[in-house]
Amino acid sequence: MADEKDFLGKQKERFEAFKTRSLGGAAQSTGESDEKTDEQIEKAKEATEKPVTAKEKGIGEGAESPGGPVGLDIGTSHIVAAQEKGAHIQAVKQVNAFFAVPKSKFSKGILNRNQVMYYERGDLLYVIGYSAERFANMFNMNTRRPIKEGLVTPREEEGLNVIQAIVNTLIEKPENFGETLCFVIPGEPLDGRGSVVNHESVIKKFLGGLGYHPVSINEGMAVVLSELSDDDYTGIGISMGGGMCNICLSYLSFPVINYSIQTAGDYIDSMVGEAAGEPATKIKGIKEQELDLTKEPKDGIMRALHIFYEELIFKLLQSVQRVLSSTDKIPKISSPIPIVLSGGTSMPNGCKNRFEKSLKSIQFPIEISDVRLAEDPLNAPAKGALIMAMTEA
Ligand SMILES: Nc1ncnc2c1ncn2[C@@H]1O[C@H](COP(=O)(O)OP(=O)(O)OP(=O)(O)O)[C@@H](O)[C@H]1O
Ligand SMILES: [Mg+2]
Repeated sequence: MADEKDFLGKQKERFEAFKTRSLGGAAQSTGESDEKTDEQIEKAKEATEKPVTAKEKGIGEGAESPGGPVGLDIGTSHIVAAQEKGAHIQAVKQVNAFFAVPKSKFSKGILNRNQVMYYERGDLLYVIGYSAERFANMFNMNTRRPIKEGLVTPREEEGLNVIQAIVNTLIEKPENFGETLCFVIPGEPLDGRGSVVNHESVIKKFLGGLGYHPVSINEGMAVVLSELSDDDYTGIGISMGGGMCNICLSYLSFPVINYSIQTAGDYIDSMVGEAAGEPATKIKGIKEQELDLTKEPKDGIMRALHIFYEELIFKLLQSVQRVLSSTDKIPKISSPIPIVLSGGTSMPNGCKNRFEKSLKSIQFPIEISDVRLAEDPLNAPAKGALIMAMTEA
């Protein structure tokens, strides 16, 4: 393990470069720029204290043109856009899914009348977001996803068009050309399935085309920015999502280590579905509405949900242990650091307790002070991205 001083010495260049990016220009260490950085750090801290008001994008509700910086989280399950609105942060979200139906004048008329969100391409109508979910449920079928296991997949040809269409239901072109938009990207998958570089560049290109100045931020780091301002942005941020768990160890706002594992909520749904002989989408619904990890499972599905949650938490902790033990990048941090959990998969009652219990049972290379749950787990990455965008602007 590197000595704390050594570490800072060696990493100074990267650290300053990161601060330049994340906290708006701290590359020089004297005079005016120091003041500017202080101001920006204060601004970031103020923003973290603002409560998030979250809402699903209503059917027929138009997107708005942001008049300030934007945080955007394009995830496997949801797309969330966050903006500062006076004393609070507003997060709006859509399901990141679609459903294709054959085009006809009649079906178009029906969709229009019911204010279903869709776009046309070739012989098909592509129903998107929450509308797609309702459609799929009606036909007892699965929706299609433009992102699989956290990354834009070249296998889904329509993927990027769908993402663009869904983002357009949440935000339009900015009021001011070149407005800063910070978007969340995953860490490199440990088992290496898919390309983060490709994912980042296609999204960046599209957001640039909309008139934004797009800047990326690692998902785990965004969680740290959102939740750990009182800890000087030092700790482990974890986002347990649909396709991935993203992990970032941050030291004084510097992302020392970040990576992802492609095992998360979707994995639980499909494994439990397989075990119970039910479609994964059905399991997802049961899991989101009924799962309580503090209660004894009442049937086979609940029992399987408990088992696979346990497995996921174990895999996640094992990966952190493995990654942290095999690197010499970790600074010797003088006091124990917190872990903060976020993402939809961290939401069931008892998830944090299970995590704590599992943590106690393994040898961890860093001393942990406590495990916390993000204030608003589903929106924490978008909030962190907004904080970054605000300090960049
Ligand atoms: N109340 C809940 N209880 C249990 N699971 C939930 C709940 N709400 C959402 N989820 C699960 O959380 C996952 C989605 O979380 P989230 O929106 O954070 O993922 P994402 O950011 O879209 O995906 P990723 O980060 O993996 O690309 C899904 O697996 C969903 O079933
Ligand atoms: Mg996510």
